Order: sequence, then C-alpha cells, then structure tokens
Amino acid sequence: MRNHPGQAVEMDFLTAPHTHPAVQIRPAELSDVPAMLGLINNYAAQAIMLPRTELELCESLRDFMVATDAGQLAGCGALHFYTQHMAELRSLAVAPHKTHSGLGQRIAGALLDQARQFGVDLVFVFTYVPGFFERLGFQLVDRGALPLKAWKDCLRCPKFQACDEVAMSYLVTPGGAIYMSAPAPAEPPVEGPFLLPILGQPRILDKG
Ligand SMILES: CC(C)(COP(=O)(O)OP(=O)(O)OC[C@H]1O[C@@H](n2cnc3c(N)ncnc32)[C@H](O)[C@@H]1OP(=O)(O)O)[C@@H](O)C(=O)NCCC(=O)NCCS
Repeated sequence: MRNHPGQAVEMDFLTAPHTHPAVQIRPAELSDVPAMLGLINNYAAQAIMLPRTELELCESLRDFMVATDAGQLAGCGALHFYTQHMAELRSLAVAPHKTHSGLGQRIAGALLDQARQFGVDLVFVFTYVPGFFERLGFQLVDRGALPLKAWKDCLRCPKFQACDEVAMSYLVTPGGAIYMSAPAPAEPPVEGPFLLPILGQPRILDKG
C-alpha cells in the first residue's frame, strides 16, 4: 500500500494482480443477493453490522462490489453517494472463513477506486474496526462533522442509544476535508398537495 493517512493516493485495486486466480472482484449482480444477505445478516446477528433486507440490497445493488472465490461469494462492500463530494463506504463484509487473506482490503480498495473515478472528494465510514481502515489510509474524524444525511441508518440501529462505532474519513482529493464540516445541501421544502401512488388516477390529498 502506497498511501499515507490523510493524503490523496493513487491506487488501482481493480487491475492489481490477483493473489489467487480463482478470486475475482466485480460489481454485484442480482444473483449474488441471497449470499450477500446471508453474509451481512450473519454479522448483523452478532451486532457487528446493520441488517439488510432483500429489498434494500436490490435497491442499492449498483453500490456493491463483491469478491468471489471459485464462483462462491467471499465478500462484499458498497460505496453510497451522499453529495457530489462525499460518499460512504458501507456493508463491507468478508466471509468468516476467508478473513485475513487480503479480501477486505481489495474490496475496499476497489470501492475507493470507484470513488476516484466518480470524482468523489471524501469517503467516510462508520466502523468497529478502525485498525483495518487505518491501513487503507482512513483517519479518525469527529462524527459530528459528517452530514446529517449520513446518520439516517443510525435511526434503525439497535445501538442507536449506545453507539460504539467510530467515524473515519479518507481524502480522495487533497482538498476533500473541506466538505466534512460543510452543511449538507438544503432539502427543498415539502409542499402539498401530496400525490399518493395508487392504482388508477393519482389521488390528491389536501395537507393537514
Ligand atoms: C473487517 C473485515 C472486512 C476485514 O476483512 P479481511 O479480509 O479479514 O481483511 P484483510 O485480510 O484485507 O486485512 C486484514 C488486516 O486488517 C486488519 N483487521 C482485519 N480485521 C480486523 C478486526 N476485526 N479488527 C482490527 N483489525 C482488523 C488487520 O490489520 C489485519 O491484518 P492481519 O490479517 O495481518 O491481522 C472482516 O473482518 C469482516 O468482514 N468483519 C466483520 C464485518 C465488519 O466489521 N465490517 C466492517 C464494517 S465497517
């Protein structure tokens, strides 16, 4: 690894020579969903990760990269965009029998490569394993500096009242830090009347 904490780095994990020819890092496909659900929700049952439903995984499938070994799912991870400058690396998991063989770093590295390709300035993560992310060049940050939108998953976390995760960030561009304390773009005010998506003609409901 050629990176230094807090500095933008050049990596190309997707084209890096594979340590094992049977291991592949690639975008997730719908047929991966059952194995991804099993992997993520196994860790969620140990309160290490947030649980995901089939609907959630399908909705965000294009965020995900997977690692396969001899065609079997060995790991996954996602890059989720929040603003035009910031993205979250999340749902990173490696199958228990495949850990400590470099897969986690390769999946995370592929997601950081994507962040770079899409022009993201800063990638953040909420994690229980800061040591793992430090090796990739992430640094601890004050979670209060992250945009409020980044907390939406926290609302349904069983540890919401007693969170023991830390926030970390990775600067894709040297100036990426300025986006940390910047307020999230203002949401346009929601005005009525509201349209409900019912079958047939849309139904207009008055506010209040
Ligand atoms: C964290 C995780 C993705 C790491 O995947 P991995 O494939 O084992 O990681 P790599 O082999 O690429 O890197 C291993 C190195 O990362 C660090 N690391 C890995 N897991 C760690 C952990 N649980 N705690 C602290 N450091 C860890 C160590 O420095 C380790 O080096 P070592 O193998 O010489 O001990 C994997 O353990 C996992 O799926 N954990 C459960 C889910 C989870 O916590 N996901 C992170 C959500 S943000």
